[in-house]
Amino acid sequence: MLKKEFDAANAMYPFPVVLVTTHDGKGKHNIITVAWTTNVSRNAPCIGLSMGSGKLSFQNIQNSREFVVNIPGHNLLEQVDFCGESHGEEVDKFAATGLTAQKASTVGAKLIKQCPINLECMLKEIYRIEGANLIIGQIRKVHMDPTILDEQQKIDYHKLDPIVYAQKTYYRVGKAQQKRGFSKHDQ
Ligand SMILES: Cc1cc2nc3c(=O)[nH]c(=O)nc-3n(C[C@H](O)[C@H](O)[C@H](O)COP(=O)(O)O)c2cc1C
Repeated sequence: MLKKEFDAANAMYPFPVVLVTTHDGKGKHNIITVAWTTNVSRNAPCIGLSMGSGKLSFQNIQNSREFVVNIPGHNLLEQVDFCGESHGEEVDKFAATGLTAQKASTVGAKLIKQCPINLECMLKEIYRIEGANLIIGQIRKVHMDPTILDEQQKIDYHKLDPIVYAQKTYYRVGKAQQKRGFSKHDQ
């Protein structure tokens, strides 16, 4: 089969959608929807986020050097979309969405109460790439809603019901298929 050229920004898929909370150091808190995310390191647990230079949330992270990554379920899809389509300079996204700000323990940015997972992060590094920024945050503390855990205390993805995103579309994750390493069983 002859393969064709494709848009480089859309060939990787899909990404987990998170809500990143930041503050300006003067008491104004903001929320940005971010889909371009990744785990970075297991030994010094770090998370990577890609964020455009022009965004208020990026300026807040640069100045305060801290943020919270809040992981929403599908029940928050409308709020997720709103926070990705509105600007913190123009609207108080907490007030507009009804999302509840809770005090974090190690950073000044707020936790979003309705998100079952919250990761408090300190800024470790910013890599600048043509108007975009790969932000590396060191995870200082994780808050986990115990009702989304299974009997083994692992995240039950049917209970979390995370939002994944690709090509301007929101998706749900499907059924578990196989455990990692299953291919070795018959060797
Ligand atoms: C589903 C979705 C995913 C998004 N992912 C990103 C992303 O990965 N990085 C980014 O910089 N902006 C992303 N955006 C756009 C920002 O959320 C948007 O520009 C927002 O208005 C910025 O908010 P702020 O100006 O208040 O910081 C995404 C938007 C949506 C709706």
